[in-house]
Amino acid sequence: MRMRRVLLHVVVLLLASFSVPRVAESSVRCKAWLVQSIPTDMPELPRISGVLSTGDVFQWLANNSTRSLDIIAQYWQLLANPKDPRSGDFGYSDSDLLRFGAHIGSLVYKSIDNAANRNVNIRLLSHSGVYPDYTKEPSDLAYGRSNVENVTLLLSKWWGSGIVHAKVWISDGRDVYIGSANNDWKSLTQVKEVGIYLSGCSRIARKIRTYFDNLWRLASLDSSMHTRNVSDQQWLINRTVPCWSHFIPKKERCRSPLPNYIETPNVSPGYPSLSDPEMFSIKIETLPGNHSCPQPQPSYLSFAPPELLFGKHQSDEQGWVDTIKSVVEGGTLRINTMDWLGQSQYTNPKVYWASLSSAVSEVVFAKNAKVKILVAYWGHFIDATDGYLRSLLYSNVLCSSSYVQNTCSGQVEIRYYMVPGFNKTGPAVRNGTKTGNKYPDYTRVNHGKYAVSDVRAHIGTSNLVWDYFFATSGVSFGTYNTKIVLTLQEIFDADWNSPYVVPVQEFKQDH
Ligand SMILES: *[C@@H]1O[C@H](CO)[C@@H](O)[C@H](O)[C@H]1NC(C)=O
Ligand SMILES: *[C@@H]1O[C@H](CO)[C@@H](O)[C@H](O)[C@H]1NC(C)=O
Ligand SMILES: *[C@@H]1O[C@H](CO)[C@@H](O)[C@H](O)[C@H]1NC(C)=O
Ligand SMILES: *[C@@H]1O[C@H](CO)[C@@H](O)[C@H](O)[C@H]1NC(C)=O
Ligand SMILES: *[C@@H]1O[C@H](CO)[C@@H](O)[C@H](O)[C@H]1NC(C)=O
Ligand SMILES: *[C@@H]1O[C@H](CO)[C@@H](O)[C@H](O)[C@H]1NC(C)=O
Ligand SMILES: *[C@@H]1O[C@H](CO)[C@@H](O)[C@H](O)[C@H]1NC(C)=O
Ligand SMILES: *[C@@H]1O[C@H](CO)[C@@H](O)[C@H](O)[C@H]1NC(C)=O
Repeated sequence: MRMRRVLLHVVVLLLASFSVPRVAESSVRCKAWLVQSIPTDMPELPRISGVLSTGDVFQWLANNSTRSLDIIAQYWQLLANPKDPRSGDFGYSDSDLLRFGAHIGSLVYKSIDNAANRNVNIRLLSHSGVYPDYTKEPSDLAYGRSNVENVTLLLSKWWGSGIVHAKVWISDGRDVYIGSANNDWKSLTQVKEVGIYLSGCSRIARKIRTYFDNLWRLASLDSSMHTRNVSDQQWLINRTVPCWSHFIPKKERCRSPLPNYIETPNVSPGYPSLSDPEMFSIKIETLPGNHSCPQPQPSYLSFAPPELLFGKHQSDEQGWVDTIKSVVEGGTLRINTMDWLGQSQYTNPKVYWASLSSAVSEVVFAKNAKVKILVAYWGHFIDATDGYLRSLLYSNVLCSSSYVQNTCSGQVEIRYYMVPGFNKTGPAVRNGTKTGNKYPDYTRVNHGKYAVSDVRAHIGTSNLVWDYFFATSGVSFGTYNTKIVLTLQEIFDADWNSPYVVPVQEFKQDH
């Protein structure tokens, strides 16, 4: 299996080098930058040169749009809400908000409003939003304008649970943001975010737009006519899925109203990983330019949930697993995530899900890889996380166990990321009393979702919990581009080596 993958990889690289003339056709060159948000008051975190800020990139995407702007957001809170007692922003003063950087959120909102005034066709697709504003901002942007459409899509009607969770901007079908940042002022200056900005990349943007259109289409369909309850033999629960799902026996499946995904007649149940997922052989420029690598290096997109796959794109789970497995012998894999759970969070009953931790243990054993994982510790930390992380750390004990003559020299190391102030978040005033909180609710957290090996970078929107891969919408961009790989490693290392991390304790063997 691995051999086949290596061979395929060689083939992909060869194909990539032959397709240069076709790529040169396009006059606009595809460029990429990594994008970050760094919370205020983190003076000891080194800045990485060449990385853009999310607040700027969101404004550029809106400012530079001339024809279309498509945005997938979980929820909208670009405008701070310090006067609403139900808001996590409640009770902070104007000068607090300025210090927090809330004005950047207003600038982003204004830039979308300006684009709407320029008569750009704007489509805003979101989950129902979150307490207390829900759909207020997209509704306000759409109000009285025929060029702005807003849609709410409830994925729980289609998958039994789950939400729209992808964070994607597409401007003029050409410039794209994919990453962890929500359409929330706090995501620009109070939450640590990582994403990618692709500019002039219409071929990639077109694929992402297909995904956008699929979500848009779902929002207009009656889910009760297009869903089935199945007894899912992969995850061993009964659950609701779209009627075209590969979790339904082929004969009983409906015809998908969405573009086709590869047929898998002899695989059951569910979705297989692809031995040859679609790879783009587009030359992606990174600035400052590095001309020592003239050949295009392959890139890909991955999507969740699997029923929204089309063409030969891989699932988001495969995107993660293959990135973990791409680590070279004795190499280093870096994973950054807010959440880590080896199970589902929102299904009933719960599902056990070992895909990512298995892949990590496999590269520790077989490739002697060093795996570094950063997990967020914050105001809304999921307690069960610690048990799963410690069980993963137990791989270290097994790896060096002499009982079966293991000679493995790989290692997993896990650190919690604590953004200073993380346990002082929430409204400043509650029921007329000062709370002592220093920052608004849902802030001071490392929220990026990415993995980077020695050769491959994967930048996503999904938390590392079952639901995000099988019931919730997510999009990732991955690439073998050397410069992106190296810069993403630098971003990770700056966090990993900062004073804002603490090691997760291993279980002792006598426990
Ligand atoms: C976006 O456009 C507005 C209005 O022209 C301008 O004030 C703002 O500075 C622009 N933003 C960026 C980041 O260039
Ligand atoms: C978009 O706009 C910003 C300033 O508003 C500019 O610096 C940038 O080069 C423009 N183009 C792209 C593709 O980002
Ligand atoms: C879209 O915006 C309009 C106002 O323009 C609002 O009445 C409607 O509720 C919004 N729809 C959704 C689905 O958010
Ligand atoms: C599937 O099951 C849920 C309850 O678990 C029920 O509400 C729903 O109506 C069922 N849907 C179909 C299509 O049978
Ligand atoms: C799941 O569905 C199967 C048939 O579709 C049924 O036999 C089984 O009892 C159900 N299990 C649960 C736990 O509801
Ligand atoms: C340029 O790329 C080469 C390999 O492709 C890499 O070794 C080198 O570090 C890169 N230089 C910079 C400045 O990124
Ligand atoms: C907040 O976290 C810091 C660092 O772990 C700790 O020193 C402090 O006691 C905590 N404060 C509260 C109120 O929990
Ligand atoms: C405010 O006080 C009321 C009554 O004492 C209580 O029910 C409510 O939960 C409190 N609200 C908050 C946000 O603490």
